[in-house]
Amino acid sequence: MKNAIEEKILACREEEWAIVTGDGFRLHVDPNEGNGISFAESVAVTLGEKPRWLHCRWLYDEIGSDFYQRITEQPEYYLTRVEDRILADNAAELRRVVGDATIVELGSGSSTKTRRILEAWLDAGDACYVPIDISLSALEQACGDLAAAYPDLVVEGLAAEYDRGLRLIGGISPLLLLFLGSTIGNFNDDEMDEFLRAVQDALNPGDRFLLGLDLIKEAEVLNAAYNDAAGWTERFMINLLARMNRELGTCIPLDSVTYDGYYNEERERVEMYLRFAADVDVRVAKDGPPLVIRAGESVMVEISRKFRVDAMVAKLADFGFALERVFTDPDEFFAVLLLTRER
Ligand code: TRP
Repeated sequence: MKNAIEEKILACREEEWAIVTGDGFRLHVDPNEGNGISFAESVAVTLGEKPRWLHCRWLYDEIGSDFYQRITEQPEYYLTRVEDRILADNAAELRRVVGDATIVELGSGSSTKTRRILEAWLDAGDACYVPIDISLSALEQACGDLAAAYPDLVVEGLAAEYDRGLRLIGGISPLLLLFLGSTIGNFNDDEMDEFLRAVQDALNPGDRFLLGLDLIKEAEVLNAAYNDAAGWTERFMINLLARMNRELGTCIPLDSVTYDGYYNEERERVEMYLRFAADVDVRVAKDGPPLVIRAGESVMVEISRKFRVDAMVAKLADFGFALERVFTDPDEFFAVLLLTRER
């Protein structure tokens, strides 16, 4: 049986999306998944540039997504815990302010923190949840868990990249779009502008946007968060090279690479690199051009910017978002902004 949300998603599609039906949930799978730039092409291009870099989206294969989940459970990685606390403390208030809106989430992952919000919604009435994630396996797992925990919740997921998923939610208003975990900090300037424009276009006036931001703080705290003692961050980063070895047939000796991540105070961002201790030929295709990374060279994989609330609020205003509430923790480590898409 189709529900109202599914009808609205289907009405926005321009082509056939595959439908996966699970126990108590349904997923719409983007037929274009992987038709954008491929892993091989992307790696060949960005590793050839100076400075060399790799796109962080490739970190999240099945193994990488598991490793990232472990990072979020580490004591040094305060972000997930603090944001979860903020959501737990303010979910009922959020529901009062926002009212009965469909909850859409970008990069939903395991949807763990989202439970705080879903529970507040279910306490107040009906709830529909539209998670959007690039990883079909993560979506299936998360939606199955949610459907089992909340039998009354309507779950209609989209297995797609952010921009492709955003194009399907235009009919769903009123909605609350979640973008948690300070994932917006992983974008560079151009990507952030492009992303905010896509969100502005996807939402209708009156729709809400809930944005999690990790705030500027002492370097020691940040350095610890991105260098957990148990080593999950390093495993997560090295897995990107292991994935290249698995999927692209590169033969990178993983023991000649180390992870290096630190807070750059001047640029107000954590920078994450893979450093090569030996010369390595990273030929992407068997007959492709040789690509030699020299001993001592490093490859940037991710940035994680840290924010000031005022500056970010000013930027969001440029994209048509008005601030409604700022939720934060007593140490002001993290902020969750509630914004309204203006007319
Ligand atoms: N969104 C997360 C963040 O910026 C991603 C992340 C956490 C990450 N730890 C990492 C990415 C380590 C690469 C390496 O905090």
